[in-house]
Amino acid sequence: MTAAVLPKPQPAAVPKRLKVIAIASGKGGVGKTWLAIALAQALAKFKERVLLFDGDLGLANVDIQLGLMPRSDLGAIVEQNRPIASAVTAYAPGGFDVIAGRAGTVALAALAGDRLTRLADDLLTLGESYDRVILDLGAGVERTVRQLCRRADGCIVVTTDEPTALTDAYAFIKLGLTQAGITDFRIVVNMAGSIGEGERTYGTLLRACQSFLKIEPPLAGIIRRDARVKDSIRAQTPVGIRHPDCPATTDVLALARKLNALRP
Ligand SMILES: Nc1ncnc2c1ncn2[C@@H]1O[C@H](COP(=O)(O)OP(=O)(O)O)[C@@H](O)[C@H]1O
Ligand SMILES: [Mg+2]
Repeated sequence: MTAAVLPKPQPAAVPKRLKVIAIASGKGGVGKTWLAIALAQALAKFKERVLLFDGDLGLANVDIQLGLMPRSDLGAIVEQNRPIASAVTAYAPGGFDVIAGRAGTVALAALAGDRLTRLADDLLTLGESYDRVILDLGAGVERTVRQLCRRADGCIVVTTDEPTALTDAYAFIKLGLTQAGITDFRIVVNMAGSIGEGERTYGTLLRACQSFLKIEPPLAGIIRRDARVKDSIRAQTPVGIRHPDCPATTDVLALARKLNALRP
């Protein structure tokens, strides 16, 4: 009797440089927006020109976490058909630019597919004058999230060690792969109790991806749980500015350094 032969998981390719990075998750509240901001600030510190785009259409809050009062935002772009460049706000303390969204806007949340395609086209054109474009996406796997994610060079999937977050991260990867043709997923374990715990959480997700999807998304980074994160959000300041030496900042810098090292 011959044992059933499972197809071999594909070997992990050498991660390519991601210029346009989507930050996604299955579950909400895992720290996407916080990470997108912290990463933008860290990459700017490494002398990159960074554009942070609030792609959580309908529930935007990058501007809130930064205490920004943008003169224009995505809502104005869509409602008044204005050029996307007119919504760029410089966030001087962090040294990066932001395109803010607008929370509670039906027109944005329900943006038609072709209008969203145009918006993404314009964003990528604008992105040509930056070293890095970071898209902070909404939670879940619905159309607008998948559509924006597909336009990025790769997707950082954020999870925590909670079973619900892990299950939803797996579901996001599965649907992104099978429904949207996204192939470059990288994992960030956030709010880890320790680096070792984060590695174990990554291992759990990796094994599910290997067994059922035959892919091996690499680990992009582990960010430890740190009370200074909440403090910096309350103070509407990136953690790297308010607490430059805390564990969360150290871990975000390590992630940024890895991404920055792949610059051409
Ligand atoms: N590394 C961390 N340590 C402690 N708390 C964190 C960490 N990352 C995120 N948080 C908490 O998680 C909350 C949700 O973060 P947020 O970025 O709004 O999530 P999402 O965008 O995924 O919905 C934040 O308000 C913050 O208090
Ligand atoms: Mg968010």
